[in-house]
Amino acid sequence: MEVRHVPVLLAETLEYLAPERGGVFVDGTVGLGGHAEALLRASPDVQLIGIDRDREALARAAERLAGFGPRARLVQANFHQLMATLAGLGVRAIAGFLADLGVSSLQLETPGRGFSFRFDGPLDMRMGLSETTAADLVNQVSEGELETIFRDYGEERHARRIARAIARARMEKPIRTTGELKALVDAAKGPRALREERIDPATRVFQALRIAVNQELAGLERCIEEAVQLLETGGRLVVISYHSLEDRIVKTTLRDLAQGEVDPVTGRSRSETQLIEVLTRKPVRPTESEVDLNPRSRSAKLRAARRL
Ligand SMILES: C[S@@+](CC[C@H](N)C(=O)[O-])C[C@H]1O[C@@H](n2cnc3c(N)ncnc32)[C@H](O)[C@@H]1O
Repeated sequence: MEVRHVPVLLAETLEYLAPERGGVFVDGTVGLGGHAEALLRASPDVQLIGIDRDREALARAAERLAGFGPRARLVQANFHQLMATLAGLGVRAIAGFLADLGVSSLQLETPGRGFSFRFDGPLDMRMGLSETTAADLVNQVSEGELETIFRDYGEERHARRIARAIARARMEKPIRTTGELKALVDAAKGPRALREERIDPATRVFQALRIAVNQELAGLERCIEEAVQLLETGGRLVVISYHSLEDRIVKTTLRDLAQGEVDPVTGRSRSETQLIEVLTRKPVRPTESEVDLNPRSRSAKLRAARRL
């Protein structure tokens, strides 16, 4: 299947990562290799390590980056184990780190992977390197846990009502497909929600399940901390997130690393413990013309930092 992929906030990513400096750049979410290719093109002195948990994405990235030969190395791993993954490659210091979080267009647009309610497919949603599928969660966890998943990861106002409808429906027969789940969510929310919500009523439930299946939030803070530890002085880090839960983690983690330890007597930060300078006071958003060209960029927020 041909999937058109346009890297999000590409010019801004290059501006903050400054790859013309050369050195080892790690793309923690190499996906289809769009950002990675631009980093490699920026300077012949860039060495790229592309990480992704998705084997299929890595195969596409390998094709795209083949022309760069040994300057591009790809590895299947979860960026939650960044330090260990890079140590396995003998890398202990890096010039830049990028994480472009969330799902790729390849994942979203492959019906068989079950990420999208726009196509009917099995309720899977695994990006790779995880066992539990969305169908396992929907059919096996308690009604209360489902409610918590929908509320905490989807910020879904009707979490309880939807969890109850699922618990009732699965007593009759297991819920196996994206279409069945979407129909249940739409019915549980009722025609008013269908009219009033600006996004599709199933959006939040699908987002919540995806986050739970892939444990997307759990290791993000640690990954950023490890990336900062690996950065050389002057090294840069860029994280692009697509929903408020992720952006909140990125924002507070960067703020804490920039602040360092606070002296209890003076109330001032100890400068020797301040690891980074945050380069983006507010998150950088795509321009209107980027959103027109690539609607997937609509919710993107980029934050960047420099290692002190
Ligand atoms: C938005 S796409 C990246 C697109 C990429 N920047 C490009 O230009 O083609 C996000 C990718 O991150 C991967 N991913 C998400 N969470 C991950 C994790 N914890 N570890 C490794 N890869 C992850 C997904 O499998 C997906 O391929």
